[in-house]
Amino acid sequence: MSLLNPLAIELNDILKKNNENLFNMLSSFGQRIYFPKGILSQSAEAKAQAKKINATIGIATEQGVPMHLQSINKYISDIHPKDSYDYAPAAGKPELRAEWRKKLLKDNPSLQGKSLSNPIVTNGLTHALSIVCDLFVDHGDILVLPDKVWDNYPLMFSVRYGAELSMFPMYNNNGFNTKGYKEALLNVRKKSKKILTILNFPNNPTGYTVTKAEAKEIADAINEVADTGCDVIAICDDAYFGLFYEDDILEESIAGYLAGIHPRVLTIKADAATKEEYVWGFRVGFISFCLGDRNGEEQIFSAIERKVMGCIRSTISNCSNLSQTLVLEALKSESLEEERAKKAQILKARALKVKEVLSDPKYNDVWDYYPFNSGYFMCLRLKTVNSEKLRTHLLSKYGVGVIALDERDIRVAFSSVEEDDIEELFNTIYAGIKDLCT
Ligand SMILES: Cc1ncc(COP(=O)(O)O)c(C=O)c1O
Repeated sequence: MSLLNPLAIELNDILKKNNENLFNMLSSFGQRIYFPKGILSQSAEAKAQAKKINATIGIATEQGVPMHLQSINKYISDIHPKDSYDYAPAAGKPELRAEWRKKLLKDNPSLQGKSLSNPIVTNGLTHALSIVCDLFVDHGDILVLPDKVWDNYPLMFSVRYGAELSMFPMYNNNGFNTKGYKEALLNVRKKSKKILTILNFPNNPTGYTVTKAEAKEIADAINEVADTGCDVIAICDDAYFGLFYEDDILEESIAGYLAGIHPRVLTIKADAATKEEYVWGFRVGFISFCLGDRNGEEQIFSAIERKVMGCIRSTISNCSNLSQTLVLEALKSESLEEERAKKAQILKARALKVKEVLSDPKYNDVWDYYPFNSGYFMCLRLKTVNSEKLRTHLLSKYGVGVIALDERDIRVAFSSVEEDDIEELFNTIYAGIKDLCT
C-alpha cells in the first residue's frame, strides 16, 4: 500500500509526466507533501459562494469585518481590518505576488522572456531556503558552496536537513574562483547524480558580487555538469539585491543567467523585502522557480506551488498579512524607487569610504582585505593575530564590535556604521592588533 496521500500522488504524477528531471530532484518529503483540500480550500469556496451566512472562517468577525482591539488598531487604523487581522492565503496575497513578479522582471532584464513562476510569499528569505530544503534535500545530498558563506546555510542544509557540504575557495586572485567552482561541481558529480548549489551575490560575509563574465562562467560550469546527466538545483540567494557599488559587476540576479540553461537545471530564486525594502523584522520574502524545460510549465508551476503551500501550511500556516499589506503598498508607491536609491547611496558612500581608509599602506602589515563591491559587509584577513582573540579584545578594551569568522577573518558590517565613524573603526581595529602583537 502506498504511503502517499492521493493528492501527493496527483501532484507527483503531474511533475513526472511533464518534467521527470524535476520529479527526481524532490526529496522524499518533497514527494509526500501536498496541500490538503481541507478547511482552507472549503473556506475559499465558501468565500466565493456563501453569500448569506459563512460559517467556515476560522477567525472571529463582527459586522462583516475581523474583530479587533482598539489598543492595537489605534496604530494601524488606516489599514482595512481584512488586510491586517485576517489570515493571508497560504501562498501569499495575490496582488503582492503579482507586484513582486513585475518587479523581478523589471530589475532583472535577463529573466525577461524566460521561465519564471509566480513568486510565493515566505516568512523572510530564511524561510524560502528552508522550503528549498524541505522539497529538495535528503540526508546525504551534496551542496556545493564557497568557503565564505552566511553561517545559516550549514545550520540549515547540513545540521537540520543532513546535506553534505562541499566547499571550494571563493576567491582566485582578485575575483570569484570560477575554475574552483567548476572543479567542485565536477568532483561532486563523480559521487552523485544530483547537486545543490547556492549562489549568493552580493555575498554575506564578503560583500562580493561577480562580474558579468564570472556569472557567465558560473552558468557554463553548471551547464557542463548538467550535460553529464546530473540534476542541478541552483539556489540564488538575492538577499542584498540592489546594493551594487562598482561598475562592471552583475547588477541583476544570476538567476537570469541560469533560467532555461539546461533541462536538468532547476533555478530557484529566493529574495525578500526584508533587506530590499529595509523591513528586516516584517519577515516578507519570496520563492520563485525557473524551469530548464518549459514544456508543461503551467501545470508544473501549479503542482510545485501546491507543494510549497503544503510546506507553509504544515509549519507556519501562513505569513503575516499586515506585513504583506505594508510591503504591497510600498511597492505601489511612486516614490519607492527614489527612497530606496537614497538609502543605497548612503550605503555606497560607506563602502567607498571603507576602501579609501583601507588604502592607507600602514595597514599592509596587519591585514589584507577580500575584494568587495556590494551589499552590507566586507572581510579582513588578519596576518598576525587570531580573529576571535582580536574580537574579544576590541570589545573589552575599546567597546567596538566586529564578527570573527574562521581563524583569521573578521567581518565588518559597514552597513551599520556611519560614514564619519569608519576611519575610527579601522584605526581601532588596527590599534587592537598592535596591542595583541606587543
Ligand atoms: C545571505 C543571506 N541570506 C538570507 C538572509 C536572511 O534574510 P531574511 O531576514 O529575509 O530571512 C540573510 C540575512 O542575514 C543573509 O545574509
